[in-house]
Amino acid sequence: MLGLSLLPLLPLLLQTSPTTAAALTYSTREKCQSSGGTHCPKGTIIVGNSSIADFPTVQEAITSLPDNNNPATILLLAGTYEEQVNITRAGPITLLGQTTSPKDASRNRVTLTWAAANKDSTGQSVDNVYSSVMVVAPTLDASITGSGTTGFAVPDDTPFGNKDFRVYNVDFRNTWAEYSDGPAHAISFSRANGGFYYCGFYSYQDTVYIGKLGNAYFYKSILAGQTDFLYGFGTAWIQSSEIQLRGCGGGITAWKGTNTTFENKYGIYIADSTLKAANSSIAPSIKGECALGRPWNSQHRSIFARSYEDGSIDPSGYIDWVVSGVARYENGTTLMAEYKAYGPGFNETGRVEGGVTTVLKEKEWEPYSEPAKVFQNQEGVFGDVKWIDWEVVRSK
Ligand SMILES: *[C@@H]1O[C@H](CO)[C@@H](O)[C@H](O)[C@H]1NC(C)=O
Ligand SMILES: *[C@@H]1O[C@H](CO)[C@@H](O)[C@H](O)[C@H]1NC(C)=O
Ligand SMILES: *[C@@H]1O[C@H](CO)[C@@H](O)[C@H](O)[C@H]1NC(C)=O
Ligand SMILES: *[C@@H]1O[C@H](CO)[C@@H](O)[C@H](O)[C@H]1NC(C)=O
Ligand SMILES: *[C@@H]1O[C@H](CO)[C@@H](O)[C@H](O)[C@H]1NC(C)=O
Ligand SMILES: *[C@@H]1O[C@H](CO)[C@@H](O)[C@H](O)[C@H]1NC(C)=O
Repeated sequence: MLGLSLLPLLPLLLQTSPTTAAALTYSTREKCQSSGGTHCPKGTIIVGNSSIADFPTVQEAITSLPDNNNPATILLLAGTYEEQVNITRAGPITLLGQTTSPKDASRNRVTLTWAAANKDSTGQSVDNVYSSVMVVAPTLDASITGSGTTGFAVPDDTPFGNKDFRVYNVDFRNTWAEYSDGPAHAISFSRANGGFYYCGFYSYQDTVYIGKLGNAYFYKSILAGQTDFLYGFGTAWIQSSEIQLRGCGGGITAWKGTNTTFENKYGIYIADSTLKAANSSIAPSIKGECALGRPWNSQHRSIFARSYEDGSIDPSGYIDWVVSGVARYENGTTLMAEYKAYGPGFNETGRVEGGVTTVLKEKEWEPYSEPAKVFQNQEGVFGDVKWIDWEVVRSK
């Protein structure tokens, strides 16, 4: 066992591990992305309509991969891919979007898009997973949201899925409606470890779903929505990203905690990011209206750390979620928190009056203050973050 004091060093120690997809260095990757496929590592699969492409759709490229642990790299040529992608493979996968602005998610040129909410063609409701632009999960069961306080009961013998999934410069857009009209996932990510760098996630309701045993890290990405648009059961870390408010409804975050035999830190952690109205036309109509989150069950856990909040944020910060007269917020169990939040959206009096937002002191934030302290494996062991691209994160 590693001593606690070693934890801060873990990212440094582990990032050189040869068993991960980290074989793609920063410059190799960027050359591949900007050349449009002519300067890519040997074996890179190319997707698009050009004559150098191996497949016209992302799903065909994914389906072509052998079911083994060899890392696969797939370059998506610039364009819009209208398809639902479903990835069950356990072996490492890296998806690259063609771009000449690899450090700017607002200039991405690759979009995966689909228009669906949680209803079938007859209007019957179906599980949220079927609305997803992209699903990453080992099985259908692993990806089902379900309902009730504990969600879908994923069978115990379900395997873990992708151990090292990476995406760079790809936008995921669910275009079902231009307002909240039921869950409409841009991504559904469960029982897998994945990093998203300079990506975009656009929908209105339930944009990003991190399901059970999902570990997802977002870096310099754009996450846009209106209602409960960062939600799930797993663990998400959002670093140096833009959260775009396209309206207000429910909360920005809605997490459902799970009881485990070990200590868990399932939840969502947003650090060094910005929370702003999606544009200046919508800003006046949502002033003071957007809640930071609401408890999907009493074990909700979320923290906005060192993040800028514009005037769209509700003075109370978070809000409670009352269903059939029963309030889900439980003092001591629910953690709906901020740490060093700043900007016009941070109203200290409002937070106290609202009575559900915890403003953390440094000591209270400390147990959550970096990815290695919150991401854990199926058995509850913390510290495995070698699937995060630390070279990119440290490059600023
Ligand atoms: C490829 O061509 C097909 C048929 O014209 C089109 O529907 C599709 O959107 C194109 N894909 C990309 C990525 O441009
Ligand atoms: C994804 O693919 C797996 C394997 O083919 C399948 O069992 C599952 O139903 C698919 N998931 C969705 C949401 O369609
Ligand atoms: C501003 O954002 C809202 C919400 O996404 C959208 O409906 C509207 O079209 C946007 N307006 C402009 C001018 O971009
Ligand atoms: C977790 O356990 C507590 C205490 O037994 C119980 O009140 C709560 O409902 C459980 N939550 C879930 C999500 O199972
Ligand atoms: C801060 O919150 C308090 C209590 O809800 C409210 O009276 C006040 O107007 C808020 N201040 C701003 C600048 O929104
Ligand atoms: C939760 O309970 C503690 C201890 O009684 C109290 O100090 C704190 O103000 C309560 N927090 C909220 C948000 O009600």
